[in-house]
Amino acid sequence: MKVSIVGAGYVGLVTGVGLASLGHDICIVEKDERKLEKLNNGISPIFEPGLEELLNKYKEKIIFTNNLKKAIAFSEIIFLCVGTPAQDDGSADLSQIEDAVIQIFRNVNSYKLIVEKSTVPVNTHKLIKWLANRYGGKSEFIDVASNPEFLREGKALYDFLNPDRIIIGVETEKAKKLLLELYEKIDAPKLVVKPATAETIKYTANAFLAMKISFINMIADFCEKTGADVEEVALGIGFDKRIGKDFLKAGIGYGGSCFPKDLKAFIYTANEYGIDFSLLKEVEKINCNRVEKVFRMIKNVLWNLVHKKIAVWGLAFKAGTDDVRYSPAIRLIKKLIENRAYVYGYDPKAIDNFKRSIGFLEGFSAVDDLYEVLDDADALVIVTDWQEFKEADLEEVKKRLKLPIIIDTRNIFDPDNMLKQGFEYYCIGRSGCSNVQKNI
Ligand code: UDX
Repeated sequence: MKVSIVGAGYVGLVTGVGLASLGHDICIVEKDERKLEKLNNGISPIFEPGLEELLNKYKEKIIFTNNLKKAIAFSEIIFLCVGTPAQDDGSADLSQIEDAVIQIFRNVNSYKLIVEKSTVPVNTHKLIKWLANRYGGKSEFIDVASNPEFLREGKALYDFLNPDRIIIGVETEKAKKLLLELYEKIDAPKLVVKPATAETIKYTANAFLAMKISFINMIADFCEKTGADVEEVALGIGFDKRIGKDFLKAGIGYGGSCFPKDLKAFIYTANEYGIDFSLLKEVEKINCNRVEKVFRMIKNVLWNLVHKKIAVWGLAFKAGTDDVRYSPAIRLIKKLIENRAYVYGYDPKAIDNFKRSIGFLEGFSAVDDLYEVLDDADALVIVTDWQEFKEADLEEVKKRLKLPIIIDTRNIFDPDNMLKQGFEYYCIGRSGCSNVQKNI
């Protein structure tokens, strides 16, 4: 089949390359000339394992263009993969969706299936239909469907090709048939529902996952005070199929391009419909407090932060990505610097994005080496759980640090082993670590 995609961001690119690998022909429209040039040269503008390889493998099947008219003429199916960032009041900014659909409707004179892939508030499909009437007068030719993505950064291609489910939100038999045919080769449950339900499934999934994280983070605080161990508690409850073992890793809280913005938008939309989603407000509040908690922990351990040198491993919002959007590391590092510490940061992939995101920040230096960043530091703070950190040579770590102090916000090491190796090891909600012993 032929498919057009508007937006070569994270979702658009992975969707395009994924669909090409299933045998479809793809036309991707992108306004940013620098991105286009890279893509036309076989270079992925984002780091995502396997993406560049597949992009090159299927280059004959993918056209990149800045010409939306060309994309409209290319296919009956048009995926909307533009950004829907959070505005100051928490609502989703739908201006990129509006721009794209107005241009589509002004240039369309035959049947089109417009598919929302970007995360959009419930009933956005109705607004799109309404725009079709206003700008093209041909809404009888237009179907609008919702087909949300559930891709995790770092595993996006795997998730695209091996999804737990495919959600197809449609109003007509024709739209249903087209989308079922498109995903025919993917062996996964396909749930066909109304568009409003599909739009809601996406927000509900992200809100539920965020809730799991905030829940286990509260349990971690409880464990710290009582001598229980959050890793074992998570394991113990995870065996219960009704709870499930995933997304129960306590730490510094969630970040990234989805959870923070989607939670805000969900709370906002619920409020517009007269529902006070207090549960999700608490999830957000708990998450926001995680960075504060880690900061207090560092301060308690080092006592005085003025002119202390603190090494940070992990700048991205999680391991396996170069994305720093809503990364807890940003808030933590800014706070340490406000308190006049010097921070030296290392990340296997995210250094450039981090530097771009924070601009010049006096007191912060990026170091491009796992061990060099530790030289003469008063402590090491681990903020993401990259495999490289888990496999680090701990003797070397100890040798480089001024004091053998590690504050691990992702629980990547075994506390007993770390204490045996001569570290002061502070982590999250675990029995046996230095914070419990010292009641920090
Ligand atoms: C998420 C959803 O998983 C995906 O389905 C959706 O389409 C987009 O948002 P992503 O943002 O890539 O994907 O990251 P994810 O792996 O879900 O992690 C989100 C955040 O939660 C990260 O900051 C991560 O470190 C944190 N997290 C995750 C925890 O703190 N504990 C956990 O147990 C799991």
